[in-house]
Amino acid sequence: MKKKIVVTGGTGYIGSHTAVELIEDGYEVILIDNLYNSEAEVADRIGMISGITPQLEVFDLCDQERVNNFFSTNKGIDAIIHFAAYKAVGESVNKPLEYYRNNLVSLLNLLDAMKLYGIPYMVFSSSCTVYGQPEKLPVTEDAPTRPAVSPYGNTKKIGEEIIRDTVLSDNNIKAISLRYFNPIGAHPSALIGELPQGVPENLVPFITQTAWGLMDELKVFGNDYDTPDGSCIRDYLHVVDLAKAHVIAVQRLIENRNKSNYEVFNLGTGKGVSVLEAIKSFERATGIKLKYRITRRRPGDIEKIWADPSLANRELGWKTLSSLDDAMRTAWEWEKNIRKKNRTL
Ligand code: WQD
Repeated sequence: MKKKIVVTGGTGYIGSHTAVELIEDGYEVILIDNLYNSEAEVADRIGMISGITPQLEVFDLCDQERVNNFFSTNKGIDAIIHFAAYKAVGESVNKPLEYYRNNLVSLLNLLDAMKLYGIPYMVFSSSCTVYGQPEKLPVTEDAPTRPAVSPYGNTKKIGEEIIRDTVLSDNNIKAISLRYFNPIGAHPSALIGELPQGVPENLVPFITQTAWGLMDELKVFGNDYDTPDGSCIRDYLHVVDLAKAHVIAVQRLIENRNKSNYEVFNLGTGKGVSVLEAIKSFERATGIKLKYRITRRRPGDIEKIWADPSLANRELGWKTLSSLDDAMRTAWEWEKNIRKKNRTL
């Protein structure tokens, strides 16, 4: 009997890549998404890649009645991988209440449903943003979490704490939080990838849209940081490597191999890369010369962060396999694919 996994935010960037890996690993997948920041067609593309088009339920997880209706009619769910959340850092500063309401009420409704319908496991999509600017680098899971630099980051920090406290109070629920560093790239099929609505906030979609000609130039937000080339440093990992970690984490819970009822893992390459190095990687990987200009710093940016992924390497037996150039190449193939096919997406 196939294990059944609910993937919330399943038509989104990381959710869709994780759904592909789950299906290819023999799981039955049900996607839940309100399509606020993604398209239903992504479910068909998951089917084109994996051979099985997952069931897609379209509703808002903030609607407790809809959440309970879903779980009362869809029995035998083994675990939830919870991606669904608003995630634009800049937007969250302007709309804090929307971010707190959406990202936290949806989580509370899911946890209530897990208790009500006996769903034992959750894998939670968290973020390195919970560390703020770490004192020590590379950053390990026991580094202090800091007052997040944005309401978005704070919803991840609070989300982790809500889950931890729920697990501590209820022995029937076990969870793993995965703290992502910077996911980039797209599935090698170029059928799914990052699809930012409007002007992208994140670096790599801005690079690929500039390379395609949608943007005149890339603005590099500051080169006066205390880093070798003056630009900010991040830990960029391929989204397919990241997706595979979710399959391993849900398997760990289902097979009761977790060492405690609540675990946290950093998911990164362990290597810091500056913005200027990322640009060079894109140019090397694609042969395209990128037009960019150094501008002033972006408020809220931290200077440098990269992961110490040794706990995930050891405990999950997971490590990143793709290079930065691979990730940049797949990001570019995806950009070309969506622009060429004047897709409906
Ligand atoms: C990366 C670097 C920018 C755009 C955020 C969230 C994190 C995760 C990923 C969701 C920074 C520079 C960017 C541009 C630039 N989100 N940059 N010009 O801010 O590290 O992380 O997004 O899970 O939780 O905090 O990612 O891609 O926005 O920026 O110079 O046009 O690229 O200054 O140094 P960030 P990013």
